[in-house]
Amino acid sequence: MASSTAFLLLVAALHVCCCHAQGGDDGAVSAIYSLGDSITDTGNLVKQAPPGAFETIKHLPYGVTFGHPTGRCSDGLLMIDFLAQDMGLPFLNPYLAKNMSFDHGANFAVAGATAMDPADQFNGRFSMPFTANSLKLQLRWFKDFMKSTFNTDEEIRKRLQSSLVLVGEIGGNDYNFALFWNRNVSEVEKLIPSVVQTIIDATKEVLDMGAGRVIVPGNFPIGCLPSYLTAMASPEQSAYDSAGCLKDLNLFAAKHNAQLQRAVAGLRASYPDAAIAYADYFNSFLSLLKGAPALGFDEDSTHKACCGAGGKYNYDERRACGVEGAAVCADPSAYVSWDGIHMTQAAYKAMSRLIYHGRYLQPQILSFPEKNGQT
Ligand SMILES: *[C@@H]1O[C@H](CO)[C@@H](O)[C@H](O)[C@H]1NC(C)=O
Ligand SMILES: *[C@@H]1O[C@H](CO)[C@@H](O)[C@H](O)[C@H]1NC(C)=O
Repeated sequence: MASSTAFLLLVAALHVCCCHAQGGDDGAVSAIYSLGDSITDTGNLVKQAPPGAFETIKHLPYGVTFGHPTGRCSDGLLMIDFLAQDMGLPFLNPYLAKNMSFDHGANFAVAGATAMDPADQFNGRFSMPFTANSLKLQLRWFKDFMKSTFNTDEEIRKRLQSSLVLVGEIGGNDYNFALFWNRNVSEVEKLIPSVVQTIIDATKEVLDMGAGRVIVPGNFPIGCLPSYLTAMASPEQSAYDSAGCLKDLNLFAAKHNAQLQRAVAGLRASYPDAAIAYADYFNSFLSLLKGAPALGFDEDSTHKACCGAGGKYNYDERRACGVEGAAVCADPSAYVSWDGIHMTQAAYKAMSRLIYHGRYLQPQILSFPEKNGQT
């Protein structure tokens, strides 16, 4: 009896010592707030878009694995959903769906969003093909939401102390749109410092509001996506790496990530009381590709869109997922890519486990209720 009591005390003491003193009382996260783009949007864009716009994601086959379309750019759930689920929280409701519950957080991410304001991109020399939901706007929503939900800045601070805030992934679209406008990779590289600065400035504002735990994700290895593999296909074998991805584009994404990581390290120094982590979407994705067969994905389809049509990568922008002429694969869970740009629910689930429960969250600032997310 006495020895088991001593053992329990020892375990309790270890538990107290091992966990971050910063960022919340006992490590429990009571709410998640997220800023971002289509990687994280759980329904904002479809609430905002007028009838006729963005029709494809409003209809099946988007949401086919979930049972109905939800506004998520996938066949089902996203990384943020698995993260919430594993933390024992409900899915994040989209902020623009005004009458839903935001007791456990809110999602401000909008598909198509850029980090920078549209006017700042290439000094406004070309227009954004999609939305104007920049990080600045999402941040304003976040502040308005907190101010209308809580009475004082101190209450907001207290709430954010026990919350998790995700700033991104964001910035991917700043580059996608520039590349879409036929800017070459070396021109688009010139955007990196401003995109990174925009992300860091937003993160600072969130930390200044009192956030105790913040995650800043990097970009994916975009040279592995069916859309880019198709659009930038090269006859030269030397343009591809051993994983079958486009070297230039991956190198570009890695440069963005390196600058972002340096800036995040700077934030840690400026905000020693907050727990600030970088989520490595780049290497976790490469790890997923490498381990694809073991993770249950079809080895021959890792670079093909499940939903699409045509070509080596089953991707053709004129017959993209949801457009006439595109078809859905028999088993989305065997595919990494859903529509050539976004991942399948199965891939997002695997990514979420690799990142949030594994070594791709740097440093590990999360703790999960026992047994959640082990499968
Ligand atoms: C509010 O929620 C209900 C379902 O609970 C939905 O039918 C309705 O469209 C929502 N209203 C708005 C303005 O989003
Ligand atoms: C990229 O575009 C710029 C401006 O048009 C041009 O000067 C440069 O040579 C291009 N670089 C490559 C690698 O094609």
